[in-house]
Amino acid sequence: MPSAPLSLLLCPVCREPFPAPGNLPGIPSGETAPTPSLVCPRGHRFDAARQGYYNLLTGSGTKFAADTAEMVQARVDFLAAGHYSRMADDLAGLVASAVPDARLVLDAGAGTGYYLGVVSHALPGADAVALDISKFALRRAARALPAAHCLVWDVWRPLPVADGAVDAVLNVFAPRNVPEFRRILRPGGVLAVVTPQPAHLQEIRALAGMLDIGAEKETRVAAAVEAHFRPAETRHCEYLMNLRPADIRNVALMGPSARHLDRDSLQENLAGLPDTIPVTASFTLQLFRAA
Ligand SMILES: C[S@@+](CC[C@H](N)C(=O)[O-])C[C@H]1O[C@@H](n2cnc3c(N)ncnc32)[C@H](O)[C@@H]1O
Ligand SMILES: [Zn+2]
Repeated sequence: MPSAPLSLLLCPVCREPFPAPGNLPGIPSGETAPTPSLVCPRGHRFDAARQGYYNLLTGSGTKFAADTAEMVQARVDFLAAGHYSRMADDLAGLVASAVPDARLVLDAGAGTGYYLGVVSHALPGADAVALDISKFALRRAARALPAAHCLVWDVWRPLPVADGAVDAVLNVFAPRNVPEFRRILRPGGVLAVVTPQPAHLQEIRALAGMLDIGAEKETRVAAAVEAHFRPAETRHCEYLMNLRPADIRNVALMGPSARHLDRDSLQENLAGLPDTIPVTASFTLQLFRAA
């Protein structure tokens, strides 16, 4: 059962806070519902999916493309091999030293919950909320992080979170709704943004049919957030990974390139590779402070 204080989460329909589980309408105090549900004071009800996440999106679908089951499986496999663990540890160190007493951390575009898990480990006193538009991703996040609230949500809509409720927002290779991130952060809270550098995966981008990374991403992120945050720290994290053909397949299929990738030519290109090849991982970690 997730432990994050429910009153900090808002009903997406009427924006009233969800009450604590013991006070849910119709459930006698001290008893728990057979299936944990989020029910707001006005009676809007969201049942947990069997896998433990909540779909808060109501009405017609969203125009944004969610990560597919294939993309999510590739991401799970690639991350489980530990290739991005150095970056994840750097991110966790950065966030934990910026807000050591954090009580609530939210990952916007959390995917499979990998980074939220590593950051939560560095902040054992904090509750966790994972937001993503992909239910396939959140199934995995809910399994990996049983104590977190995993919410299917579109970050371009007003977030279902109370003003000033959050100590740290994580945003790793995911869309950024900067005004909403600022609204939900307490003064002094932090926004941590991770973006790839142009050198990221440079040895395999063409071979694996991956899109190029635009230059100046770091500057563009800073410009996009400057009206709402002040810059606190920037770190570059660059190292070589030893990738097997299976890892290269996963890294190609887990990102946006997967949507237009020719699987047959990818397979042909991978067949000609040695057992492992050195490949650059190159990230920028930017920390911004809410005034
Ligand atoms: C490149 S993945 C990164 C996932 C995760 N942060 C990681 O690095 O493992 C981008 C994520 O953003 C999610 N996403 C895309 N558009 C979104 C939106 N409008 N609202 C919420 N999540 C979105 C995708 O479903 C996907 O899980
Ligand atoms: Zn409601």
